[in-house]
Amino acid sequence: MTLVTNRTLLDAAARGGYGVGAFNVADLAMATAVLDAARATASPVIVETLAGSHPYGDDRLWWSLLHEAVAAYPDVPVALHLDHGPDEETCARAVAAGFTSVMIDGSVGPDGRPAGFEENVAVTRRVVEHAHAHGVSVEGELGTIGGSKDGRSHAEIVLADPEQAEEFVRRTGVDALAVAIGTSHGAYKFTSPPDGSVLHMDLVERIAARVPGTHLVMHGSSGLPADLRATINAHGGDLPESWGVPDAEKARAAGLGVRKINQGMDHYMAFTAGVRVALAQSPGDVDPAAYLAEGRRWAQRLLEERMALFGQAGRAADVVAQEAAAPR
Ligand code: 13P
Repeated sequence: MTLVTNRTLLDAAARGGYGVGAFNVADLAMATAVLDAARATASPVIVETLAGSHPYGDDRLWWSLLHEAVAAYPDVPVALHLDHGPDEETCARAVAAGFTSVMIDGSVGPDGRPAGFEENVAVTRRVVEHAHAHGVSVEGELGTIGGSKDGRSHAEIVLADPEQAEEFVRRTGVDALAVAIGTSHGAYKFTSPPDGSVLHMDLVERIAARVPGTHLVMHGSSGLPADLRATINAHGGDLPESWGVPDAEKARAAGLGVRKINQGMDHYMAFTAGVRVALAQSPGDVDPAAYLAEGRRWAQRLLEERMALFGQAGRAADVVAQEAAAPR
């Protein structure tokens, strides 16, 4: 089966009451770590990537490599998702490249400032029309998630409003909705462990009740594990102390109705820790195959743990059943 839409995958998750990790990948070693972790845990999975944020120059080459990689795992139900599509043109390119889900991030304007609600509705609606005509799911964003998606810009947090969420979904027809509940993208999130005044889980419950047919997405879900930061820093890194979303809060979010849980930094940290350890242990080695394999192993181990935490482990068969029951 391999490629399915986010709609199919998240409908199955809603039925089963679990969350599905959407894991950012920026190269093939990382992509295969995600796919191997999904295979090892019998998980459905969302593989996501940002346009322009990879070492392959042109998106075209990277996206076709990613498509090939997914096809090599016919036993793993995968949605291939464009994360934070900045405009209609990029989303249309992803649809043409075989992605089964795209995100249009109409929450910020071209100047990086929060965009107006009407502007967001209009661009999201146009992307939904195009993507749905090609059998591709769409995720929109309401409110502004903090931090940096690409390591360059830095957005301020604007919390999502439940009433607006209902109107946004009705007027756009999105399959999934990213809601800003206080989380933040990137490797630097909170200066102390976040409590209820930072992470507004009550918003998840209130929004989920108003948009029952739409799947909620939590961005910026990385926990930023202290042991990985310590390993990186003990091997030449320099990451300042920072706290992310605790494991218990991620599991709680899935229980409250979050179906798609976006994570990048945690497995990027694991990968980097593995590479740094491998390089330190073999200072005379210059073969990338050796240290990339070690990074991949560290990332896969962490990804398998996350798949168990989110509840998707053992659920690959749910998606197969959901796909078989879908109207043709
Ligand atoms: P982190 O930056 O917390 O890993 O979240 C990734 C994300 O939300 C991608 O959209």
